Amino acid sequence: MKKHRVGILGATGTVGQRFVQLLENHPQFEITALAASDRSIEKPYSQACTWKLAGAMPEYVKDIIVQPIEPPLDCDFVFSSLPSGVARETEEAFARAGFPVISNSSAFRMEEDVPLLIAEINHEHLGLIENQKQRRGFGKGFIVTNPNCAVVSFAPPLAALERKFGVKSVFITTMQAISGAGYPGVSSFDITDNVLPYIAGEEPKVETEAQKILGKFADGAIEKADFTVSAQCFRVNVIDGHLASVRVKLKQTTTMEDVRREMENFPSLKLHSSPASFITVCDEPSRPQPRLDRDNGDGMTITVGRLFPDNIFDYRFVALSHNTVRGAAGSAVLNAELLIDKGFV
Ligand SMILES: NC(=O)c1ccc[n+]([C@@H]2O[C@H](COP(=O)([O-])OP(=O)(O)OC[C@H]3O[C@@H](n4cnc5c(N)ncnc54)[C@H](OP(=O)(O)O)[C@@H]3O)[C@@H](O)[C@H]2O)c1
Repeated sequence: MKKHRVGILGATGTVGQRFVQLLENHPQFEITALAASDRSIEKPYSQACTWKLAGAMPEYVKDIIVQPIEPPLDCDFVFSSLPSGVARETEEAFARAGFPVISNSSAFRMEEDVPLLIAEINHEHLGLIENQKQRRGFGKGFIVTNPNCAVVSFAPPLAALERKFGVKSVFITTMQAISGAGYPGVSSFDITDNVLPYIAGEEPKVETEAQKILGKFADGAIEKADFTVSAQCFRVNVIDGHLASVRVKLKQTTTMEDVRREMENFPSLKLHSSPASFITVCDEPSRPQPRLDRDNGDGMTITVGRLFPDNIFDYRFVALSHNTVRGAAGSAVLNAELLIDKGFV
């Protein structure tokens, strides 16, 4: 099968490296372009990038020369893992130059004509692409986004509950890993022996993105889900894996067995990066834990535990996802597979 040629914007960063790792030997994609900042350009990737993932940097990328984040690049579409400030102008420039852009950044997530995708939950939101192209004069290019990495941990179990029982309100406390801040990220002096009760810009994202993801696509637009979210976000001393403690009030009364069944039965897709189980519910009282459960389904499964009736809300549970895989590069790769499957790329 002929492979699609892929570029990565922000290829040297925390998420960029995860893309390089996940795309090695991918049956549908081959990396043909890598781009980053002035610090990195004109260098081979092996010199520009300080590899921070377990195992060696894959051989196939070492000699690729890092380019500026300017279109055109020698590829069919781009994954973007740029900081949001840079992403806004750059992603638009690539879309305008005819490239599909599959982005991890927050720059376009909440724009009304841009899909905010979790492939298993809302692929019908891809219907926004045609409007987006016309409205922005993009021609062949377009932008799709994946959610904030903390939102990815709790939006799937909420989607299961919203579909069957309706969600009224949600109270969330996130415990987010160090790698979520990129590299070098949080200083070791700040995070060692400590928990940081503030992540700049995070709580508004956690309080708003799930309503768009769980919204209905009708008449060419998204009608957002009508539940409210109250969130507090903490940075904790864990390398990978975002944990969310969730309390939820439902519109309809139901049993804990039904809540569990809806989560476990939420179907996965049949794409290359799809995990066998999209949502796993565990019974052990001390799970999920980031170190033990973040790699479930090769980092693509959402692991739920501590599911109980709640004294104030209806139910409470803890949800975990791998922030640089399901929360970033892995979801973007899955979205690219979905776009191909649905004929958009
Ligand atoms: N980390 C996560 O868990 C996670 C999860 C979901 C979404 N995201 C989002 O993904 C994006 C990247 O995050 P990250 O954690 O990978 O950050 P990071 O480790 O700081 O990497 C940033 C990347 O962007 C490049 N870059 C920075 N400033 C640039 C500029 N002015 N021009 C061109 N390239 C520039 C860097 O290139 P150089 O190496 O050349 O400086 C590097 O490749 C952010 O929008 C973040 O919010 C991150």
